[in-house]
Amino acid sequence: MSQPLGRVLIDRDRIAERTRELGARLTADLLEDLQREGHGSESAQRVVLLPVLTGAMVFAADLVRAMPLAMQIRAISVSSYPGKSTTSQGVTLRGDFPDDLAGTHVVLVDDIYDTGRTLAALQELVRKQSPASIRTCVLLSKQVERLAEASVEYAGFEIPPEFVIGYGLDYDGMHRNLPDVRVLDPDTDT
Ligand code: PRP
Repeated sequence: MSQPLGRVLIDRDRIAERTRELGARLTADLLEDLQREGHGSESAQRVVLLPVLTGAMVFAADLVRAMPLAMQIRAISVSSYPGKSTTSQGVTLRGDFPDDLAGTHVVLVDDIYDTGRTLAALQELVRKQSPASIRTCVLLSKQVERLAEASVEYAGFEIPPEFVIGYGLDYDGMHRNLPDVRVLDPDTDT
């Protein structure tokens, strides 16, 4: 088997530890909201987690298992970096977006906050529906100038402005299954 590409930026153990922390914080904050409203943790229909496919699938799979709380999980699909693009090509929604989020506690989950376009667009789609709350949780927040401002309350790691792959993140559809987050140099690694 060939060596994985790039160099490790965040290894799987740090990711696992941080994901557990984020899951615990989210759970505590959501339960506080539900209790304030007079609902118990059994109010299953009220928490809706929206993983943003495809990149968030690995992170979301680990995050939800660190959230001992009744919830719906409804994946949504968006693309901004098709194929070999390493710069955002604008947000395209693939497939349907939920239209019944009024009164629910929504948690958007994505792998990376980069230009902000994806999350800003999705937050707008959610906000229009008058949810009880919107939270956004990302594994990675890239230190770049944002092109659109999103609210990101839960971020696992701040990372430098480099192109990263692994743990759900791809280059041209590949490398999502690498267990660590790695820095890719598209000029020399591809
Ligand atoms: C990536 C990533 C985020 C988004 C972040 O998705 O998963 O959703 O870009 O970038 P932004 O902050 O600049 O908008 P991508 O469009 O590559 O689709 P994918 O999840 O299928 O890889």
